[in-house]
Amino acid sequence: MPSLRLTGGIALVVASVAGCGAVTSPAAEGPLPSEPTMIDYVSPARVRGLDVRTVSRRDPGGPEMHAAYPAVADAPRLTEELRRTVTERLGLFDRSVRASRKGTAGQPPRGEFNVGWQFAAASGEVLGVRLRTGESAGGGWTESRTTLWYDRVDKRAMGSAALLRDRAALTELARLARRSLLARGAAVNPQAVTPDPKIFDSIAFNMHGDLVVEFDDSQVGPAFLGRVAVYVPAGTAGPMLSPTGLRAQRAAVEEAESRAAPPPVSALKEANDGRPDAVSSGGGVDCARTKCVALTYDDGPGAGTTGVLDALAAQGARATFFCVGSSAVARPDLLRRMTAEGHLVAGHTWSHRDLTTLSRNMITDQLVRGRDAVAQASGQVPTLVRPPYGKVGDQVTAVARELGMPVVRWSVDTGDLKDPTPADVAARAVAGAARGAIILMHDTGRSTAEATAEVLRRLRAEGYTFVTVPELYGSHGMRPGAVHDSAESGDRARALARQTML
Ligand code: NI
Repeated sequence: MPSLRLTGGIALVVASVAGCGAVTSPAAEGPLPSEPTMIDYVSPARVRGLDVRTVSRRDPGGPEMHAAYPAVADAPRLTEELRRTVTERLGLFDRSVRASRKGTAGQPPRGEFNVGWQFAAASGEVLGVRLRTGESAGGGWTESRTTLWYDRVDKRAMGSAALLRDRAALTELARLARRSLLARGAAVNPQAVTPDPKIFDSIAFNMHGDLVVEFDDSQVGPAFLGRVAVYVPAGTAGPMLSPTGLRAQRAAVEEAESRAAPPPVSALKEANDGRPDAVSSGGGVDCARTKCVALTYDDGPGAGTTGVLDALAAQGARATFFCVGSSAVARPDLLRRMTAEGHLVAGHTWSHRDLTTLSRNMITDQLVRGRDAVAQASGQVPTLVRPPYGKVGDQVTAVARELGMPVVRWSVDTGDLKDPTPADVAARAVAGAARGAIILMHDTGRSTAEATAEVLRRLRAEGYTFVTVPELYGSHGMRPGAVHDSAESGDRARALARQTML
C-alpha cells in the first residue's frame, strides 16, 4: 500500500515567530515553505497490527455520538489509554447534554460528539496518536486535541507532557508558547498558558523536527479562531526533550525522508464504468423474480469485520459495506477482502459527521474524502453513500446528485448497536424483512459475526436471497441524489410519481 500523506488541520500562519525560515515573495516560483505548525500525519496503512475501535451511540432523545481510535497489536497499553480517554470524554459530553436538557421537555434531541484520530508519528521506537474531539451541544462546533504517546522501547503509554525532560522544560515551553502567542494580536490570551500538563496535552513534531503545541478551541482565545498552534524550532526543542521526546522527534523527521506519493484516485478503476445508475451487477440475481434482501454493514472496517466476512463466506451470502473513510485507510486489507469476496464497498463519509449540520462545502468534503479513501483502500471507486445516522437534507441530496452518488438508508434497523444479542438481532431482522428490504447492521462489534450467522440462517429459512444494494434495485437502477430506503418503497414511490403525472 503506498503511503498516503494526510496533512490535517487549519493553522494560523505566524510570520513573526523566530526560526520561520526564508521569507518568500508572492512572485517567487516553486513551493511555498511549509506552515511550521502543520504535522505530516503517517498513513495508518503503514502501521502493522492495526485495528480500528469504534464507539457509536444513538439513543432516542440523546445526542449523536461516534468515536473511533486505533488499536495497535503490540501496544495494548496505548489502546487502553486511548479507550479510557475516549470513553471519559464521551461520558462527560453525554451527561452535560442530558443535564442541559433537563426542564426543556419536548425539545428535539440535539448535540453531536465525534472523535477522529491520526498517527502523529509511527516508528519502531514510538507511536503518537492524535485524537480530535469535536462536539456541539446544539450551538457551535468546537474541537479539542489530545496526542497520546507510546514508547515501544520501554513499553509505556503517556500523555504529551511526558515528551518533555522535566518540570523546568515544561516551564520553558510555556514561556516560549506565551511569547509566540503575544504576536497574534489582541484576540489571543497568552496568560492562559501555564506549565500545566493538561494545557500541553497535544504535542507532536513537524517534518523538520520542530516541536508543535496545539491548543483546544477556546483555550487561548475565542472559539472562532479554531485551531491555534505554536512551534519551537528543532534545535531549541532538542535539549528540552525526554528520551521518548527525542524518539518522537526522530520518528517525524525519518518519516518525512521516507515518504512517497500515492497514485491519483483517477487512475483507479471505476466500479461502474462511470454510470451511476448501473452500479455493479454482482452475482446476476434477478430480484424481480427472487425474494431478495440486502444486508448492509456500517461504520467499519472495525473489530467485527473479519468475523462478518467469515460468516458471510460460510453461507455464500453477499452484502454491502458502508465504510468510514478514516477507518478504511487504516485497514485496506479488509476492504480488498470485501471486494475480492464479491461484496460491494460503499461510502459512509470521511469522519461520520451529521451531514445535516454542515455547510455545503463541508458536505462535499465529507463525501469526496470518504469516497477517495475507500477507493484508495479497495481499488474501486464507490458510488453509493449512506449518510451518518441516516440523516439527509436538501443540501445532502443536492451534493450527492452532483457527485453522481445514490443515497442509501435502510428499512430495517436490527438495533445491533444497542442490544447485540444474536438471537434478538436476528428476531428484529426477521420481523422487519420483506422483499426488497435493506437491513442495517454494524461491523464494529465482535458479536456482529454471530448475529450475522443467525440472521442468514433464519432469513434463508424464509426463502430470502442475499444481494448487494444495487442488485436489489435491478433494472430500475438507482438515481444519484435520490434517497433509497428499500427497493419496495422505491417502486411504490415511482408508481406514485407516474400516477401523479397522469
Ligand atoms: Ni454510521
